[in-house]
Amino acid sequence: MTEANRRDFLKTAGAAGLALTAGSRALGSPIGANDRLVAALIGAGRQGTYDMLDHLRHGNVDVAAICDVYQPNLQKALKEAMNAGARAPQAVSDFRRILDRKDIDIVIIGTPDHWHAAIMVMACQAGKDVYVEKPICVRLAEGKKMVEAARRYNRVVQVGTQQRSGRSFQRAVELIWSGQIGKIEFVRTWNYGNEYPEGIGDPPDSSAPADLDWDMWLGPAPKRPFNWNRFGVGDRWSTFRYFWDYAGGMMTDWGVHLLDIVNWALRADGPRVITASGGKYLLRDNRETPDTLQATFEYALSSPPVEAIREAEPGGGAAVPNQDPPGCVVVYENRTANANSMYGKGYGMEFHGTSGTLFVDRSGFQVYPETKRGPRGEVNLTAAAEMHEEPDPHANHVMNFLECVRTRQRPISDIEIGHRSTSVCLLANVAYRSRERLVWDLEKQELIEGGQQARELLSYSYRAPWALNV
Ligand SMILES: NC(=O)c1ccc[n+]([C@@H]2O[C@H](COP(=O)([O-])OP(=O)(O)OC[C@H]3O[C@@H](n4cnc5c(N)ncnc54)[C@H](O)[C@@H]3O)[C@@H](O)[C@H]2O)c1
Repeated sequence: MTEANRRDFLKTAGAAGLALTAGSRALGSPIGANDRLVAALIGAGRQGTYDMLDHLRHGNVDVAAICDVYQPNLQKALKEAMNAGARAPQAVSDFRRILDRKDIDIVIIGTPDHWHAAIMVMACQAGKDVYVEKPICVRLAEGKKMVEAARRYNRVVQVGTQQRSGRSFQRAVELIWSGQIGKIEFVRTWNYGNEYPEGIGDPPDSSAPADLDWDMWLGPAPKRPFNWNRFGVGDRWSTFRYFWDYAGGMMTDWGVHLLDIVNWALRADGPRVITASGGKYLLRDNRETPDTLQATFEYALSSPPVEAIREAEPGGGAAVPNQDPPGCVVVYENRTANANSMYGKGYGMEFHGTSGTLFVDRSGFQVYPETKRGPRGEVNLTAAAEMHEEPDPHANHVMNFLECVRTRQRPISDIEIGHRSTSVCLLANVAYRSRERLVWDLEKQELIEGGQQARELLSYSYRAPWALNV
């Protein structure tokens, strides 16, 4: 994000609750508030259907087509769409039929992660605006192309990191920016749970169900025999999440929600140094991603978060010999065989500042003031503050997208923001899989340090006939 964009966020995030950055006008003129938008859903599983229903509920939107390669999900989504007011959407199993339709303005992408990039780029080329689920891709090189496509074809692209549209997340970030908890040098984020010992189970490979087009589900990913856990659809969140070809485990599935807020609060595009430790130590299932992981990120903060903090300090925060430039250590932890947690919360973020600690999750935030006496006898104390989240940031997120489709401004989770948040998580997985310490050039988005294996993990070759040409 540019410095100008960051300033825009600061100006608008608190007041309007919606941070709109100046965007380039896309093809045609802004769409009137009363003009009906026509949307289509590609990937009608759990989250895609939820996204679609919020489009139907909260905007002047019709859903004209739904695509899935798994007939039961397609039929279920059609029924739900019609119950919510859609007028007999077209049912298709090849998403290209949706992109061919000239009357469709918006494509919602709710497929597994490995399909996001190809569909999003093709949708941009077809002149559609896109709501794409997080994480935006499985390899970093795809994300760069997604940003390029959105800009080249002047499309509005919102990423499904809906916490940015949560009022309490916005207020928490504003509070951090205002300096209320002081300088931040440590942030912890986590997902803890206990699935020991079976985890997601270990079904054998088998033939695919007759009502699933497995080859189309695999798409650009390598050809593999069908395995129910790779496909993953069932009465829980789909388990494709735990296979490297289609996703990145909890690090990308949940980590992206958490590290998205960290990037935002630290006003950074991501870390400079990335390391990760862990393994699949305990769960007896066929997942490929680790059951235990700790990723550590060193953020180089080019300027202190808030100038006011420096000025308020004795000596004005002048440089001290042997002191590192401003920075922050951020950790992401995932445990799956022990659920004991801080604040009794299975997931969350805590920002540790010199004056206080801010805990935030989807239920709201809480500030815990520092009361410790410093070496000069001063007491660090900040006002306790807390806020409870209103129930549904997701609806706000969809509304923000629809508003931007009409005004041609960039949405609150514009594709570049989503790309940067996804990149943090993908880099952690690269560090974990290569067992290397990575040094990352945020400007060029290239590895400064990292060996051959790490470099190879930044991209992959799509299986024909799929390609990612912007
Ligand atoms: N924003 C959030 O909070 C949130 C929450 C959950 C999931 N998600 C994201 O949503 C996405 C979907 O996750 P899910 O749990 O709903 O998965 P899911 O398995 O329930 O749904 C995915 C659907 O996509 C379909 N699909 C696969 N390939 C397709 C293709 N080529 N064309 C059309 N349909 C295709 C599958 O058959 C399936 O029905 C993931 O990227 C996930 O990370 C986001």
